Amino acid sequence: MPASKSTSPKTDPRPATPSSFLSVTDGRTGTSYQIPIQDGAIHATELHQIRSGPDDYGLLSYDPSFANTASCRSAITFIDGDRGILRYRGYPIEELAASKSYLEVSYLLIHGNLPGKSQLEEWVHSITYHTMLHENVQKFMDGFHHDAHPMGMMVSTLAALSTFYPDAKNISDEHTRYQQAYRLIAKVPTVAAFAHRHSVGMPYIHPSNDLTYTENFLAMMYRPSWTTQYTPNPVLAKALDTLFVLHADHEQNCSSNAMRAVGSSHADPYSCAAAAAAALYGPLHGGANEQVVRMLQEIGTKDHVPQLIRQVKEGKRLLMGFGHRIYKNYDPRARLIQQLAEEVFEVTGRNPLIDVALALEKVALEDEYFISRKLYPNVDFYSGIIYQAMGFPMDMFPVLFAIPRMTGWLAQWMEGVQDPEQKIARPRQIYVGPGERHLEVGVKTPVRRPSRTVVARRKEPS
Ligand code: CMC
Repeated sequence: MPASKSTSPKTDPRPATPSSFLSVTDGRTGTSYQIPIQDGAIHATELHQIRSGPDDYGLLSYDPSFANTASCRSAITFIDGDRGILRYRGYPIEELAASKSYLEVSYLLIHGNLPGKSQLEEWVHSITYHTMLHENVQKFMDGFHHDAHPMGMMVSTLAALSTFYPDAKNISDEHTRYQQAYRLIAKVPTVAAFAHRHSVGMPYIHPSNDLTYTENFLAMMYRPSWTTQYTPNPVLAKALDTLFVLHADHEQNCSSNAMRAVGSSHADPYSCAAAAAAALYGPLHGGANEQVVRMLQEIGTKDHVPQLIRQVKEGKRLLMGFGHRIYKNYDPRARLIQQLAEEVFEVTGRNPLIDVALALEKVALEDEYFISRKLYPNVDFYSGIIYQAMGFPMDMFPVLFAIPRMTGWLAQWMEGVQDPEQKIARPRQIYVGPGERHLEVGVKTPVRRPSRTVVARRKEPS
């Protein structure tokens, strides 16, 4: 079977009988080995048998960023990065974005198939009725400094939720796993909106069960107070729902990998989700949407685009929102988001940054530096421009990514904890430190005691 270029198996991902072998000869010993190839991959532990001598541990594969290593078998999301294809459970992202709601898609990702009418009603009901946060979670969030980044608040609050649901530790119980999925998908918009309200000093607005998932989120974000009426704009609520569909999963990205890795130690899903959210926070991952808008603001006008491109080509900075480990073609999500932007601008008015972004994309896509490296706009290139037009503050952008990605994290976590092939994630290393060395016998390091003045100063209130 030829090695698949996509990161996902192209066919049914169930284990298959090896149909061919990789023949290798160890140049150190002259010994030949036949390593089974299955689903376009060799099992890395097969390399262990390749030894240069009796004291050799065996050959390792070295892949510091998992650039060419499959960490699991997965039936959730398929990406063909060369052709710009993304499918959830087999369905093209374009079809799902055009006709399915985020909650239908979250059901699909978690359960494997789209819901029937009654299944959808039950799913929507379960999520709608788990949106409230415990009063003490609210108090916990009150403790953050007024200018705390909402994504930092999100990471910490997800971890804190673990202490409110000790039953979540029972990860081997199917009912318990689904219970936590409802809770996390339901509560993540509430945590997000509360983080925003805290940072702008406004009273928290509790969830409304008569609104849709995204309408409720918009109401919790923007309703001035309980006594003031607020009707979310249906076009914006729908656009946000589509953005949530597009962000719901993306196979083994950095945050999903964090979710699975922490899950492999059998930690509860709240702790896993906190780790995943922390991974998403970084500017190379979900934090990129915030950095794109900061970059576009810095460029300001189209005539400054060449200057930025020059800096990127000189290696002085990255073109944020460009490039992807897997896509070596246009990210299909970026194309859909670009189209969605025009619908949103019909309501909000045009965000002038879109013209800077379009000019930047045009110059980049015609430039040899980007062509030769196959660098295209990714999901984060246009999303921030829409979020900004909708009135979201920039530091909420990564949070807006985290809300829908919760579904993907949970689907990946559920698959991981039930996979009989998975064990605790524990990579090997190549040790490059000093060889064995010894302390000098009889030489003791003197213990330094703090001076009186230092002790006295430490007691002073800060
Ligand atoms: N701007 C300029 N050069 C780039 C960029 C970029 N955005 N991305 C990659 N390159 C260059 C890189 O310097 C390298 O060049 P060379 O071969 O001369 O050393 C080459 O392209 C290959 O890049 P890489 O660093 O090996 O690629 P990677 O797969 O390790 O990194 C990435 C992928 C997304 C981290 C990277 O493209 C990047 O930093 N992009 C900007 C941040 C960004 O937009 N992140 C969002 C990613 S998509 C959504 C998500 O995951 O959250």
